[in-house]
Amino acid sequence: MKKIKIGIAGVRGLSTMQGFQAIEDVEITAMCDLDEAHLNDAADKLGVEKRYRVFDDMMESDIDAVVIATPMQCHVPQVIAALEAGKHVMSEVTAGVTMDELFWLCETVEKYNKVYMYAENYIYTPQVQLVKSLVEAGKFGDTYYAEGMYMHNTSNLLVYGSGKTSWRSYWQDGVRGNFYPTHSIGPVMQWFPGDHITEITTFSPGVRHPYGVKQDSGTTTMCRTEKGNLLNIRTDCTSPHPHNMDYYHLQGTLGCYRSKTTHKDWDRVSFVGEDSPSCNMQWKALEDFNDYLPERFKTATEEQKKAGHGGGDFFIVKDFVDAVRGDAPPAIDVYTACEWSAVGLLSGISVTNHSKTLEVPRFRPDMPLDEKRITI
Ligand SMILES: NC(=O)c1ccc[n+]([C@@H]2O[C@H](COP(=O)([O-])OP(=O)(O)OC[C@H]3O[C@@H](n4cnc5c(N)ncnc54)[C@H](O)[C@@H]3O)[C@@H](O)[C@H]2O)c1
Repeated sequence: MKKIKIGIAGVRGLSTMQGFQAIEDVEITAMCDLDEAHLNDAADKLGVEKRYRVFDDMMESDIDAVVIATPMQCHVPQVIAALEAGKHVMSEVTAGVTMDELFWLCETVEKYNKVYMYAENYIYTPQVQLVKSLVEAGKFGDTYYAEGMYMHNTSNLLVYGSGKTSWRSYWQDGVRGNFYPTHSIGPVMQWFPGDHITEITTFSPGVRHPYGVKQDSGTTTMCRTEKGNLLNIRTDCTSPHPHNMDYYHLQGTLGCYRSKTTHKDWDRVSFVGEDSPSCNMQWKALEDFNDYLPERFKTATEEQKKAGHGGGDFFIVKDFVDAVRGDAPPAIDVYTACEWSAVGLLSGISVTNHSKTLEVPRFRPDMPLDEKRITI
């Protein structure tokens, strides 16, 4: 089998390292980071010889694919440069920082016959995958409501240790609305198969924090889907609150799921049954239903589990490699990436316009030009 050569841009891309190392005939052969000290540290650790400070220079190398894990505002320009250079791409979250960028992204992916996969890693946790299997098995009945919450006070990340202002000051905490929605939307959308987000409205209590940035003191975005389902997406990166980046709730006609809220808590489900009538439901541990875990999670090897999240951090990389080899379509394609990222971009417009409801474009192949706009 032909060896796949991978380049990594941005040191966060190293989170994929153990995953790639666990796959035969795949090798990380190049690294890129603007910061020379970061670059050399990471490349020394990995034993990577080809090192680049300029992304475009790495695109001239012989890599087959690149993981883009640079700041959010770099993603689309770098994805476009990579696709033009004939490389397959796995892009960190979010997909882009303006709606126009999302449209360019789709157009460019359509133009070049290369893989674009969105690295929404929160989908790959065993809990999210187990709930997905329970949905598919009909245990929740008809699912109609879900919550996803991302609480991560990032005030310590606005300035780097060197004293230089971080990109997060501008592209995350320097904007209004939900700038980082996909860790919440990605997982809950797994539980509404074939559905799409069509409308959003965002509410915020305004700015109540002392950090001198525009970002709201948390936002709540209500999303309506094509099938009439409701999602409640909360992101808060400024309020004083212990980290809780993966809180989820799902409701269906026959049962519900609630994820743990602290490390000491437990994920739980409740299903209508003889011992649990709908008027007196009882919680059970989610792990009691581990038999429903997808096979690859049940049989994950120690090496795969070492990548993190019980094998999840391996499987996202494996799905990307399978797509590059042409064995499967990308698990999270460009249209899905854009739909989820658009929710965040549109929420900024909603929250600065009295929580106006906005339509989410239906990202799809060959989307007509007159649908590539913001509709209020
Ligand atoms: N999926 C997740 O769980 C997760 C977690 C954290 C961050 N992220 C995403 O990862 C990305 C990076 O976040 P971070 O926390 O590592 O940021 P960071 O600021 O800590 O690191 C960014 C790195 O990219 C380098 N860089 C900046 N511009 C560059 C350019 N043009 N070319 C090459 N290198 C460049 C910087 O020198 C730095 O080393 C962001 O898109 C963020 O949204 C995802």
